[in-house]
Amino acid sequence: MRVIIRPTAEAACVTAARIIAEQVIRQPASVLGLATGGTPLACYRELIRLHREGRLDFAAVTSFNLDEYVGLGPENPQSYHHFMFANLFRHINIDPNRVHLPDGKAADLRAACEAYERSIVAAGGIDLQLLGIGTDGHIAFNEPGSSLASRTRLKTLCRQTVEDNARFFDDADQVPRLAVTMGVGTILETRRCILLATGENKAAAIGAAIEGPLTSQNTASALQLHPEVIAVLDQAAATSLRRLESYQNAESYMPDPDELT
Ligand code: F6R
Repeated sequence: MRVIIRPTAEAACVTAARIIAEQVIRQPASVLGLATGGTPLACYRELIRLHREGRLDFAAVTSFNLDEYVGLGPENPQSYHHFMFANLFRHINIDPNRVHLPDGKAADLRAACEAYERSIVAAGGIDLQLLGIGTDGHIAFNEPGSSLASRTRLKTLCRQTVEDNARFFDDADQVPRLAVTMGVGTILETRRCILLATGENKAAAIGAAIEGPLTSQNTASALQLHPEVIAVLDQAAATSLRRLESYQNAESYMPDPDELT
């Protein structure tokens, strides 16, 4: 796994955005996998900035989001649909017909999960997946104990995740307990991943994901099996890593992802 450590959260998010931008510039019809939450906000701001400067064209891009709360429709400000339009899609020229999020209000959720998997395959698979990480090590909503071969499905959120996400709601009681999420197996089939983590509260989960044993108790650790993952961290999220020096040394031989072609 390539590990890039930036001095601040903002700088880490800019680096993640530049990696996404480079993907879209090189392959305008890219299929992007996208995440919600607090972490990617500054990354999306940078993508919007590059688009407004005329350096990034999303017209041919297709996107798939990782997850959605069960019971929340696009009209609900707390839904991930709403989040994505408010924080990215509305500000760039992506075709709304090419954006995909799981349907948290589908009458038949199981069938909708299977259809979501099929639509990823029909789009040719995900070229670049952006991932955040939960304080319990989850990627998407694959909570501890999730099968590392799991596919898009319904998942119950852990108490820790409900508490972490309560900041986006008026109170913790309003956080849905169920979500539709891509599986770990689905994520492992993407061609490239960025694992973006910022802040001290992610340090333990990041340490376990990158240097710990492969375990369903930290589903991000499954990324050790993925051939092309770039972990982009700020210094605070990197504090539990033991091999910091070797990551920094390796980076000194790599091209700077912040430099856009
Ligand atoms: C969101 C998602 C989650 C978040 C994670 C971190 O689509 O898939 O795995 O990435 O919960 O959330 P933040 O960034 O809010 O700390």
